[in-house]
Amino acid sequence: MSYDYANRTDRPIKLKIPELQSGNRLHHVIFAAQYTVPILERLSVTADRIRALAKSKEGHQFLNSLLPHRRAMLYFTQPSTRTFLSFSAACQILGIACNEVRDPNVSSETKGESPFDSVRMFSSYFDVVIMRSKMANFAECCAYMMNDLSSASRRSVPIVNGGSGTDEHPTQALLDFYTIRRATRYIRPGNPNWLAELRETEPDLATGVANKTFGFCGDIGRGRTIRSLVQLLSMFEGTQLYFVAPDHEILRLPDALKARIEATGTTVRCFESFEDTIDGKPVIEQLDCLYMTRIQKEHNDPSVADPFADIDFESYKLTRKLVSRMKQSAIILHPFPRDQYFGEIPTSIDRDHRAFYFRQARNGMWARAALLAHLFDADGTIAEFYEQFTAE
Ligand code: NCD
Repeated sequence: MSYDYANRTDRPIKLKIPELQSGNRLHHVIFAAQYTVPILERLSVTADRIRALAKSKEGHQFLNSLLPHRRAMLYFTQPSTRTFLSFSAACQILGIACNEVRDPNVSSETKGESPFDSVRMFSSYFDVVIMRSKMANFAECCAYMMNDLSSASRRSVPIVNGGSGTDEHPTQALLDFYTIRRATRYIRPGNPNWLAELRETEPDLATGVANKTFGFCGDIGRGRTIRSLVQLLSMFEGTQLYFVAPDHEILRLPDALKARIEATGTTVRCFESFEDTIDGKPVIEQLDCLYMTRIQKEHNDPSVADPFADIDFESYKLTRKLVSRMKQSAIILHPFPRDQYFGEIPTSIDRDHRAFYFRQARNGMWARAALLAHLFDADGTIAEFYEQFTAE
């Protein structure tokens, strides 16, 4: 079998998606565009059920007995803390055994084995391969390799993209969406009047993801989490997307992504500062959700001294003063890691009720458990057990 997928990777995304699905289910998870609103809803409901069940011993034991006959390979050749660990924790929740290769230097790739042969080997021993790679379309190509194997009646397993170069991060988009969906219910533990209180100053505040204004700040150009999440948000009615980044070709919103979002009818606006105004009101005061990101210096071209020498980055750091001007209902997200030296979100903001980024990271575990349950067709069993469990 040859490993030449160029004629397939070059196709429009619409032609690729059917090859990655299995009926109305996801099979390989490669692109954010594979999610539909009903699939997002289904995964979110499953995640809510898993998180509720995992609280009790009985629920935990049930979840743990679901998929003990499945094994997962975590093949992460790029640094990762949250994606790797939350997938590993998600596997543990569902009783899936997992193993890892994080350093290709300790695998046969040092003996000249190609990463494709490595993935095919993983598929011999495991039932799903979850991977992170610096190569933008490696996970996509592995999915085609698996499909070719399946057509030849050979063993084939789902491929899950845990971050592909600067291109996509579809499971991060899922957990970001799940966090936004939960946060926009405006339920605060211990305060049944929270929504009513918010409506005292924001009388038009509606629950739900639709008709919200989202701000994205920082390294927009190289942020794969942003690229994937905006595709989900633009599926919702009335979404407005505001991008706050230096006007630099590496950092600003790429034209192709802008065109792609605008084609869905979603409003896109680009700014250089939170102080820029729309209808006389600064951007920071208009946001329902702010998604901060770090400047991804590791992608800088080492042959160029400092591509950003002329940029004043102070405008791309959140401060307590800025937060104090945000809506009370606003939510602040960050895919993490945050850069302690750059300081895009100082730790002094962590106590603010609008800071959702630690909950967001924990939600990654529930959302990824829901995704694995979906891939292995266990979400129906979870729904049945949940109904019985909560009816008792
Ligand atoms: C992000 C990533 O790897 O793309 N982290 C993550 O998965 N939560 C963002 C980043 O590295 O800045």
